[in-house]
Amino acid sequence: MADLEVEQRVEALRDEIREHNRRYYELDEPTISDADYDDLVRELRRLEEEFPELITADSPTQQVSGRATTTFAPVVHQVPMMSLDNAFDEGELRAWGERLQRRIGEGDGPVAIGFVCEPKIDGLAISIRYEGGRFVQAATRGDGRTGEDVTANIATLADVPKSLGAGAPAVLEVRGEVYMSHPAFEALNAGQVERGLRPFVNPRNAAAGALRQKDASITASRELSLWCYQLGAIEGGPELRTHSETLELMRSLGFPVNPEVRAVDTIDDVLAYCRERQAARHDLPYEIDGVVVKVDDLALRAQLGSTSKAPRWAIAYKFPPEERTTKLLDIQVSVGRTGRATPYAVLEPVFVGGVTVSQATLHNEDQVRAKDVRPGDTVIVRRAGDVIPEVLGAVLADRPEGSQPWVFPRHCPACGAELVRPEGEADTRCVNIACPARALGSIEHFASRGAMDIEGLGDKRIRQLLELGLVRDVADIYSIDWEVLRPLDGWGEVSIRNLQAAIEASKSQPLPRLLVGLNIRHLG
Ligand code: IVH
Repeated sequence: MADLEVEQRVEALRDEIREHNRRYYELDEPTISDADYDDLVRELRRLEEEFPELITADSPTQQVSGRATTTFAPVVHQVPMMSLDNAFDEGELRAWGERLQRRIGEGDGPVAIGFVCEPKIDGLAISIRYEGGRFVQAATRGDGRTGEDVTANIATLADVPKSLGAGAPAVLEVRGEVYMSHPAFEALNAGQVERGLRPFVNPRNAAAGALRQKDASITASRELSLWCYQLGAIEGGPELRTHSETLELMRSLGFPVNPEVRAVDTIDDVLAYCRERQAARHDLPYEIDGVVVKVDDLALRAQLGSTSKAPRWAIAYKFPPEERTTKLLDIQVSVGRTGRATPYAVLEPVFVGGVTVSQATLHNEDQVRAKDVRPGDTVIVRRAGDVIPEVLGAVLADRPEGSQPWVFPRHCPACGAELVRPEGEADTRCVNIACPARALGSIEHFASRGAMDIEGLGDKRIRQLLELGLVRDVADIYSIDWEVLRPLDGWGEVSIRNLQAAIEASKSQPLPRLLVGLNIRHLG
């Protein structure tokens, strides 16, 4: 890029990042996924590294993002609440370890640096202040220097001790993450859908919405939780030498400290912890988006110091993203073997959760109505682990003008029969037993490995057999007119013989498999 182009790109990135910061921290209404945001910051950081003369003090890379809004009274943090630098892969994590060695090593080989690894909770940072052992104030992070007074809201959390008993430090600021657990989030969203209200896109947004309530009784009804992971100001407390001791102190005073936290000796141990946590990220009943790695020794921390934005002694190792934004091109309905008509999103392909996703489920009519996603919208897509991709919601700020709510079709897209939604049920169905979409689903299921296990009878072949009118239901598999197939492409003598043998062999499958294959509704 030419110099002018670089300068323009850097400015454009800064403007865009600032706008996303405003939407995330002030409006609680992000319009891109965290991963897309991280990509913008990474590009800006790369350009600033390459062209350091372009770095300005007001660049988002040099500041803690976030700002106190005017809704709540401002609180100046006695000790600033810093942000964290990110590592997006193991190489970046190792590079951080090497930087630490260079800063504290004396040139004669590696020095021993102990680390503490903690799950990175996807919630909101909070600072809770105690004076004389009594809870006196709670504030959000804000821009790191000034946060918002959310004392009344935080006081409603069962996890927050209201008094620390005798022997507590004269002043103590405990920092941690307020979050919403998966069960609490699911219950909240089920209630939202039931009442025809828009569900929250993810637990973080739900937690942010719950915390920023002028009426603290609404916060109280939303079931927020807390993990504590850091101290701010401390006066009159015991002398602390390590982070592990800090966590132990917090634990002993009654604060919730995450039991998954682990102290380790080397950067290799750190990597092992990160891999382990990443593989088990869905085993926890709350959302984590990475691992925070911290130098354990507090004297070493002081030696390492901080940049204007983040401490050098800690880093956030970010897991690959499971949520991304993309365009919703269309909403279609697919009919399965039971006749259930499931709406699904046709998406502009997006790489999320380790694969490229171009379709995602929308579950049922009520879900589409509650989420109110419309073709043309920018939507947030989630793919977590092996779970099928899902559309979480639309980015309303980017909705095209004049768009209309999507309406569930009245007729089956496969056979044209009228779709039926029985009173009190969530599902809409095609009740035509001769529907080819139902036949395809039933035969596919019948032939599948868990049922009659007919090798070679997959989606493509079943479609062809249906189109040729050679089968209409599962029973027809046993009386296929093979002569019709012989002259056709893809039906060589060997494949016909193999398929005939597989069909023949399926006749000896035990009864339970046949029952599974027939997929009789209400028969478990
Ligand atoms: S320590 C100076 N520990 O991640 C260090 N932060 O991306 C301050 N977070 O603002 C943060 N889990 O909201 C720390 N175990 C953990 C954390 C954690 C989640 C959040 C926190 C912070 C953000 C930085």
